[in-house]
Amino acid sequence: VALDALVISVHLEGVAVEGDLRRARFIVVSPTPDFQVEIDGLVRRDISAATHLVEQWPMWRESRSQPWMVRVWFSPPEGSLAWLTVAGVTVPVPLTDDWHTLPELENIRRISGPVATQETHLWGGVVSAWKVYQMTGDASPVLDWGVGAGRVAVPLRRLFGVEVLGVDVDEVNVRWCQENLPDVPVSLSTLYPPLDFPDNHFAAVYGISVMTHLQRDTQLVWLRELRRVLQPGGVAILTVHGDHSLIQRPMTDAVSRAIAEDGISDHERDDIVAVAEAGYYRGTFQLRAQVKEAWGAVMPIVAYLPTANALRQDYVVLRRDR
Ligand SMILES: C[S@@+](CC[C@H](N)C(=O)[O-])C[C@H]1O[C@@H](n2cnc3c(N)ncnc32)[C@H](O)[C@@H]1O
Repeated sequence: VALDALVISVHLEGVAVEGDLRRARFIVVSPTPDFQVEIDGLVRRDISAATHLVEQWPMWRESRSQPWMVRVWFSPPEGSLAWLTVAGVTVPVPLTDDWHTLPELENIRRISGPVATQETHLWGGVVSAWKVYQMTGDASPVLDWGVGAGRVAVPLRRLFGVEVLGVDVDEVNVRWCQENLPDVPVSLSTLYPPLDFPDNHFAAVYGISVMTHLQRDTQLVWLRELRRVLQPGGVAILTVHGDHSLIQRPMTDAVSRAIAEDGISDHERDDIVAVAEAGYYRGTFQLRAQVKEAWGAVMPIVAYLPTANALRQDYVVLRRDR
């Protein structure tokens, strides 16, 4: 039985203002196209009839889940968030940024590349923070490993009330966080372990779009270190460029060969993001089966959420055993 085929994953892909309406765009990974859309608990209240399914993409290999793109037009309610339920999954849609401290584009682009904007920083961060919060709840303290400019940590702290600390190897963004985010303590970490925290310190650790840039051996070195700082029973939530990311980009022969042979391609350099050591940063792609085998040997994998954020990355959830 392919239980994966039953997993429904929904993420916000964008928010735009159109006259008096907001347009939210979602990716829904689901085996079926029959979606119900609700806003703030009321089925189809204020949702335009133009809500529709735009497109379906094929998945990698024989995966039975399918990604669908859904657009929803709605009148924004009062407050900073609208809650939309798409295909049974409730997602916060940010409507204001008055609770945020948005970084300058220069800081954002150090972490998210040249197409990122303050808007993508805002809604992408809320989506990831909500995903993390659903899994960690009020666990405390929580570490944001590779915090960047607080894209996820700020909404996690300010919208969902989580006590979150951050580390990053990028001095520029660490300084920006220290100067601008009094409620999120951030410190500089090193390219290789150890972290400056004692054993068993954190109830949860997350790293959004960090493993996606590390070589396979470096991934495992860091996984063992994250295990060390986790409390027994604590969870690590880490994203990868998984099966779905692979079909979204033109693959070179070298990448296809590496994936076919090893289930992972980690040789491509990615110098968009400014990291001290040349060649440290990679564009790493890996199959779910490879993650299961390599990472599962370090910590049990308790959940795997395909294409679960706006970057179309998969979320791997591991739990430190006793
Ligand atoms: C693509 S950015 C994502 C930033 C942030 N997690 C977010 O979602 O906005 C990757 C971040 O990981 C940081 N990074 C890379 N290798 C790291 C490591 N070994 N330890 C901590 N941070 C690292 C980079 O400096 C960068 O800020």
